Amino acid sequence: MADQAGTFPTILTERLRLRQFESRDDIGLHACLGDDKLMRYWDFTACDSIQETRRWVRILAKTTSPYEALAWAVADRKTDECIGMVNYHHREARNHRLEIGYILNAEWHGRGLMGEAAQAMLSHCVDNLRARRITAIIHPDNTPSIKLVTRLGFECEGGPLRDYWHVGGKYMSPMLYSFIAPR
Ligand SMILES: CC(C)(COP(=O)(O)OP(=O)(O)OC[C@H]1O[C@@H](n2cnc3c(N)ncnc32)[C@H](O)[C@@H]1OP(=O)(O)O)[C@@H](O)C(=O)NCCC(=O)NCCS
Repeated sequence: MADQAGTFPTILTERLRLRQFESRDDIGLHACLGDDKLMRYWDFTACDSIQETRRWVRILAKTTSPYEALAWAVADRKTDECIGMVNYHHREARNHRLEIGYILNAEWHGRGLMGEAAQAMLSHCVDNLRARRITAIIHPDNTPSIKLVTRLGFECEGGPLRDYWHVGGKYMSPMLYSFIAPR
């Protein structure tokens, strides 16, 4: 959330710094968005070129409104290298709900880093944005993502959402996961 002073809500965790995107994050983000294997369950196709990823960096860096969407660069806390992204989008403040997304450079998988980043974003959404219902829309074959949200306390509440995504000329039918914040 951009606070009243207009500052970006940087979040520190044990191993990570979640911060605003900067132009120097192009290579780090491209290791994610340019990886066909990582992007196979995403709702758009992988970026073919660094130029395409740079366009995303510019868009994501500007997303400072707390209202509908916000993206954080997930950076290694020691080096500040961008190794991934977490974001929320489709926020409806009136209904206290939003949807989350996340991606991590494959070289950094299997260390609980995205669990750490996503938990920190989730806490921010619950504590600072007063979100009650948080959703994640996940392809049924995306086992690492399903494991991740399950560890965070999400439950599968429905699906498949038939032909919900149209990506690269094909339809995909993901499942709906949700987390209800305890109050
Ligand atoms: C989804 C994604 C971020 C998961 O990455 P990940 O590294 O497996 O996620 P986590 O941070 O939760 O790490 C969990 C793994 O680290 C292991 N781990 C090692 N050290 C750990 C620690 N200190 N703490 C927690 N877990 C640790 C866990 O055992 C687990 O391994 P397992 O899956 O073999 O059981 C990754 O697969 C990805 O970027 N996918 C592509 C993008 C995508 O599909 N996004 C979701 C769209 S819906």
